[in-house]
Amino acid sequence: MMNDQLRAIVQQMPKAELHIHIEGSLEPELIFALAERNGVALAYGSVEQLRAAYAFTDLQSFLDIYYAGASVLLQEQDFYDMTAAYLARAALDHVRHAEIFFDPQTHTARGVDIGTVIGGIARACRDSTVSATLIMCFLRHLSEDEALATLEAALPYRDQLIGVGLDSSEVGHPPEKFARVFARSKALGLHLVAHAGEEGPPAYIATALDVLHVERIDHGVRCLEDAALTRRLAREQIALTVCPLSNVKLRVFDRMEQHNLVQLLDAGLAATVNSDDPAYFGGYMNDNFIAAFDALPLGLSHAQRLARNSFSAAFLPAARKQQLLDEVDAFFAAAAV
Ligand code: ADE
Ligand code: ZN
Repeated sequence: MMNDQLRAIVQQMPKAELHIHIEGSLEPELIFALAERNGVALAYGSVEQLRAAYAFTDLQSFLDIYYAGASVLLQEQDFYDMTAAYLARAALDHVRHAEIFFDPQTHTARGVDIGTVIGGIARACRDSTVSATLIMCFLRHLSEDEALATLEAALPYRDQLIGVGLDSSEVGHPPEKFARVFARSKALGLHLVAHAGEEGPPAYIATALDVLHVERIDHGVRCLEDAALTRRLAREQIALTVCPLSNVKLRVFDRMEQHNLVQLLDAGLAATVNSDDPAYFGGYMNDNFIAAFDALPLGLSHAQRLARNSFSAAFLPAARKQQLLDEVDAFFAAAAV
């Protein structure tokens, strides 16, 4: 259990969130409000019944409910309201910058125009005090041709995107399935990330780097099963966007006490802490930090490293990045006295 002083520091330190699926920030109350507004029928009778269904056994059991929840999103204002709610919540946790994932294919499959999706999310980002940019994710359980068509459809909105990512069901859908769409994205000047080594094997982390040429790995916690890969990630300072509460809820680790965040940091890896799908996994950024710090032997120096790592790994201009890193260091210098 961490002491009150460390808790306050972890809560108040400036931080960046680099792994948040915006559809995973949809709280049950907002799901019901949007269902009513849009006349969408839900399979659950009440907020309580829906929340009771959030008992996941693995990634797929979560994804099934997550995609059902997203079915209430139809209008540009819906995407705006969802994103505005997340950013307001993130600001309370002293998140200064967020790189937000969204899954356009979840919406275009229901007949929603991609411009409606990007327009609503981007407008909420512009209206927020938190700086926020967008990473468009391809659903890996679908084909690469569908991902290519999604990228094509997003071209009129290219300026609203900072990068592309890869999410959804990992096992059986290795990174190399998406080599062409990542090459095309890179040619467009987009940053590249991919989920790898969450449920999938360490080999997926290696192919995400070698075949897709990603700059960060989302999750990546299974890297420690491969010593040579771990050394490489440390040497190249490839950031891992780790999501502690998600990993416990989806049974990557049975209990937070078994999470390998300390080992990742001890191995010299550029690990960060993030919320993944906060409405589904029991908490936002500070909930993730507090759950990890409460259960694991993490101290003040780890907190500073995690805050610094989050800004170092962000896709921000160098001057802005340095300014935020300086803010972290100033915060910890003041906290030490
Ligand atoms: N989509 C939303 N959350 C995800 C996760 N943790 N892994 C893969 N796909 C996701
Ligand atoms: Zn994720």
